[in-house]
Amino acid sequence: MNEEQRKHGQQANPTSAKSEKDYSQYFQSVYIPPSLKEAKKRGKEEVQYHNDFTIDDKFKGLGTGRKFYIRTYGCQMNEHDTEVMAGIFMALGYEATNNTDDADVILLNTCAIRENAENKVFGELGHLKALKRENPGLLIGVCGCMSQEESVVKKILKTYQQVDMIFGTHNIHRLPEILSEAYMSKAMVVEVWSKEGDVIENLPKVRRGNIKAWVNIMYGCDKFCTYCIVPYTRGKERSRRPEEIIQEVRSLAARGYEEVTLLGQNVNAYGKDIEDMDYGLGDLMDELRKIDIPRIRFTTSHPRDFDDHLIEVLAKRGNLVEHIHLPVQSGSTSVLKIMARKYSREVFLDLVERIKTAMPDVALTTDIIVGYPNETEEQFEETLSLYREVGFESAYTYIYSPREGTPAAKMTDNVPDDVKKDRLRRLNAVVNEFSGKSLLPYKGEIVEVLVEGESKKNPEVLAGYTRRSKLVNFKAPKTAIGKIVKVKITDTKSWSLDGEMIEEGLIGSEFQIPAEVN
Ligand code: SAH
Ligand code: SF4
Ligand code: F3S
Repeated sequence: MNEEQRKHGQQANPTSAKSEKDYSQYFQSVYIPPSLKEAKKRGKEEVQYHNDFTIDDKFKGLGTGRKFYIRTYGCQMNEHDTEVMAGIFMALGYEATNNTDDADVILLNTCAIRENAENKVFGELGHLKALKRENPGLLIGVCGCMSQEESVVKKILKTYQQVDMIFGTHNIHRLPEILSEAYMSKAMVVEVWSKEGDVIENLPKVRRGNIKAWVNIMYGCDKFCTYCIVPYTRGKERSRRPEEIIQEVRSLAARGYEEVTLLGQNVNAYGKDIEDMDYGLGDLMDELRKIDIPRIRFTTSHPRDFDDHLIEVLAKRGNLVEHIHLPVQSGSTSVLKIMARKYSREVFLDLVERIKTAMPDVALTTDIIVGYPNETEEQFEETLSLYREVGFESAYTYIYSPREGTPAAKMTDNVPDDVKKDRLRRLNAVVNEFSGKSLLPYKGEIVEVLVEGESKKNPEVLAGYTRRSKLVNFKAPKTAIGKIVKVKITDTKSWSLDGEMIEEGLIGSEFQIPAEVN
């Protein structure tokens, strides 16, 4: 390790090492903790783009006769990372299994966003101990966002000896090396780079399903909202080159995918770090719009970088759908300020106004945190009133969970737990009310549904989503799966619609949400 790498608390990239000797020098089961302090000081280091991922001949066949199982927690980013890791496993000759009992390698791809997400993983590690006792040849690995946390790695090293490997979100491409080391070593293999992360283009992927696909457009987050762990676990914001994204979407279209969701923690910051061109999410969407694929979505939008050009492009519709997930977090300007969201209630409402003017039938959904340190009853009520004023159609709602190392975790908090729980309950009542209300006008209307498969509750019924992300359950032959079909809505519930597929030829006019719904 040279001085520069030591300073940044990171290992050098072994894939760039020239000889076996160089390689082994870097490849140690030594843990160099990621430093949260360093993460906050992140500079303007140039993003390195790599297009040279290969699996070394010595690892080929590593998985012959072996099966892998990956359990994924957290957001779509993790879901997609799992698809990449599955791709690497398959390239190594492993077979996938859905059953932990016959797996030879089990990976937990973890999420650190809230304490309960972490507790689930620790609970699962406890269960896996018995499996490891029965099958000592089993390899157990922990990867994803929890692995980037110093305290978690220390806890696993100390208390969860059944774990064979821990690797971070920047080390996924090193899976072949990590597995191979874990087979050879009796000690826990730990490889967590705290480095900001590069962009690696040509990793293999095995996508789940052939109807909808995730496409990363950027990685990391530089927003440092005071409650959030993501900027530390995912590194700095870095965008993929537009030509790579366009190429990937084109190839998905050619392979018959019906829908693509563009992924990033903060997709509206797309392009800011690309130095040789002035290019943003609006420009990207305007190009993707021309690709022959029925639906394109994106998640997640930070209100701060949502510009007028993007609104103008989204209003052109076509394959750009009328649903925007726009996390607001709180309706109180003073809470937003402490959260470091860098917009006020008024600025948010103005953005909503501009979006609705351009797209009156848009479906807006959001994320909200209640019980932020010292949140007053009045401030909470501002969240309720903002929700009603915007008319969000749905929301993910959370009680604030302190995350070690984040500024909010150091704040004193005078809001008792039962008050926080009660606020969540009150907010959820409003969310339910608005969800049900947003569905009522669909009764008797005809909607386009992308059919994803059998309904979870009843295999006799098919389920899919409209352009505005409304879940529709309806009876139709299984041959409809994977297609976009017209469904007449016969009944509306709080969270979903019931309907019946109508024959081709009976197609009615495109359904528009009546203005009074919003
Ligand atoms: N990048 C996205 C959010 C990703 S995390 C954005 O900024 O919109 C998904 C959601 O988890 C956040 O929107 C927030 O509502 C919630 N969240 C994040 N950190 C949290 C914490 N410490 N406690 C409770 N909820 C949290
Ligand atoms: Fe977290 Fe804020 Fe970044 Fe979203 S924008 S990932 S909430 S720091
Ligand atoms: Fe969780 Fe990491 Fe996603 S913390 S929400 S899995 S970016």
